[in-house]
Amino acid sequence: MLLKLSSLLLIIFFPTLGLSDAAENWQIGFQDPATPIMEGIINLHHDLMFFICVISVFVTWMLSRTLWHFNFEFNPNPSSLSHGTLIEIIWTVTPAFILLIIAVPSFSLLYAMDEIISPAITIKTLGHQWYWSYEYSDYLNEDNESIAFDSYMIPEEDLKNGQLRLLEVDNRMVIPINTHVRLIVSAADVLHSWAVPSLGIKCDAIPGRLNQTSLFIKREGIYYGQCSEICGINHGFMPIVVEAVSLSNYISWISNKLNE
Ligand code: CUA
Repeated sequence: MLLKLSSLLLIIFFPTLGLSDAAENWQIGFQDPATPIMEGIINLHHDLMFFICVISVFVTWMLSRTLWHFNFEFNPNPSSLSHGTLIEIIWTVTPAFILLIIAVPSFSLLYAMDEIISPAITIKTLGHQWYWSYEYSDYLNEDNESIAFDSYMIPEEDLKNGQLRLLEVDNRMVIPINTHVRLIVSAADVLHSWAVPSLGIKCDAIPGRLNQTSLFIKREGIYYGQCSEICGINHGFMPIVVEAVSLSNYISWISNKLNE
């Protein structure tokens, strides 16, 4: 709700801005989340930033105090204290305790990412040198053929107005929103990695092995990602585009694909 309201306000005051589902120039923050997992990742990042800030301030303060007290000009006769059991126990136990606190949200997120919740759709994606291919084997047409297609990057000279350079593909992966999707990731030749920042997914594509991950997209949109494992000369030119549509649009897309 808050996300919707804030994005609405952003779009009203800055019409060129929308939800950010692709990388932007000079971006340092996250892209906007579209899955509960990505929201969890961003929340964990914020939790960790709290600890990082407190620790940084404390360590900086302690270093400055140390420099001050051992400065020859201001303190020619510094304290001769060099050992102290109590302080050593404190500075060993406190960081361990902080790590234990951090472990709680971190592990819960880790196990949430690993969870596959009774998926309604299974999509297999294969990394090739240098493009992705997608297989929707849940559906068969009259000739017992499932849906399978390749997804190539659109070269710069063929781009139309509004299409993103090095990110747009000819055939997008289409999935419905508010549906549990199982994604099976593998590769046909060398290592690739199927990664989409807004969806909070980065899954290695390994030849001869099936990796599994799950996907639950909360809003319609077009999500851009890139291969994230150095896979050869065109590694930078095999982007990923996921188009999340309503269930009815997905069904008509599937029936069109089956009739092709
Ligand atoms: Cu495929 Cu890098």
